[in-house]
Amino acid sequence: MAKNKISLIGGGQIGGNLALLAAQKELGDVIIFDIPKAEGMVKGKALDLMQLRPHDGYDVTITGSSDYKDIADSDVIIITAGIPRKPGMDREDLLGINLGIMKDVAENVKKHAPNAFVIVISNPLDAMVYAFHKVSGFAKNKVVGMAGALDSGRFRAFIAMETGFSVQDVTCMVLGGHGDTMVPITRLATVGGVPVTALISSERLKAIEDRTRVAGGEIVKLFGNGSAFYAPAQSAIEMAESYLRDKKRVIPCASLCEGEFGVEGYFIGVPSVIGAGGVEKVLEFDLTSEEQAELNNTLEAVEKTIGETGL
Ligand code: APR
Repeated sequence: MAKNKISLIGGGQIGGNLALLAAQKELGDVIIFDIPKAEGMVKGKALDLMQLRPHDGYDVTITGSSDYKDIADSDVIIITAGIPRKPGMDREDLLGINLGIMKDVAENVKKHAPNAFVIVISNPLDAMVYAFHKVSGFAKNKVVGMAGALDSGRFRAFIAMETGFSVQDVTCMVLGGHGDTMVPITRLATVGGVPVTALISSERLKAIEDRTRVAGGEIVKLFGNGSAFYAPAQSAIEMAESYLRDKKRVIPCASLCEGEFGVEGYFIGVPSVIGAGGVEKVLEFDLTSEEQAELNNTLEAVEKTIGETGL
């Protein structure tokens, strides 16, 4: 059976970790693509990962490239091309630079890998995935943004840290845009099926929600130069794996909504089923009026950023 091919557009901090995780999971052969200026860096990373193979035993090939021809016929494309935040910046502050990059990437992916399932990570996420979809003309089920997976993971991590119980048993979701207006759905969060509201005081839960909303910024401040990369990479790999192995996992993702949750024509974080058909379904459920109001608020923020793209 031919191996799958996973191309990573952008081979920086997240890109390098994506390559490592994709290889370790043997998801397929990996191409790490970056601009010519960074060709040595991605070729070096690829070689280093090839030399990690004897220790891990993964039988896939990792190649660095700055030639778009090398992404031909990819099954999965994961895009991190762009610049990350510096302290004091919102994700929206990246729009000017990253939009131009995303348009270029979308044209090239359309040309060289028209059948790929595309996962966008670059920020501001909801606008970047919208831009990719608009410029590439890809079907809506083949384009998705990685945000809710990460935001929900952060929420899970904080609940596990608060309770001291296994993170494995914490289930929760964060909906909406990948910004400070995101909507943690605390009402449905559980630890092993037990509602978190029975385990954690409402004051502490509120603090955990607030920390979740700015969790990316907390790391940006600590780094001083750059943003999170381990958890973002793993979150996207989970999505890629669910597609390639047709697992039909239910993951909060920035999917194109056409009426779901009252959202029309925008990519926003909603529970999505990812399988061989890409984003196979958005799972809609009743929100409380307060949650719906928060979702409307996050949608306004997303609409505003997309308005600025002129697309
Ligand atoms: N095509 C391909 N790659 C590009 C392009 C382009 N036109 N322009 C820039 N890049 C590459 C850079 O050369 C760099 O190697 O994108 C890579 C980005 O890597 P980092 O700067 O290390 O950023 P990273 O931490 O990986 O984050 C990437 O994801 O989470 C978001 O906000 C984050 O927008 C940022 C993106």
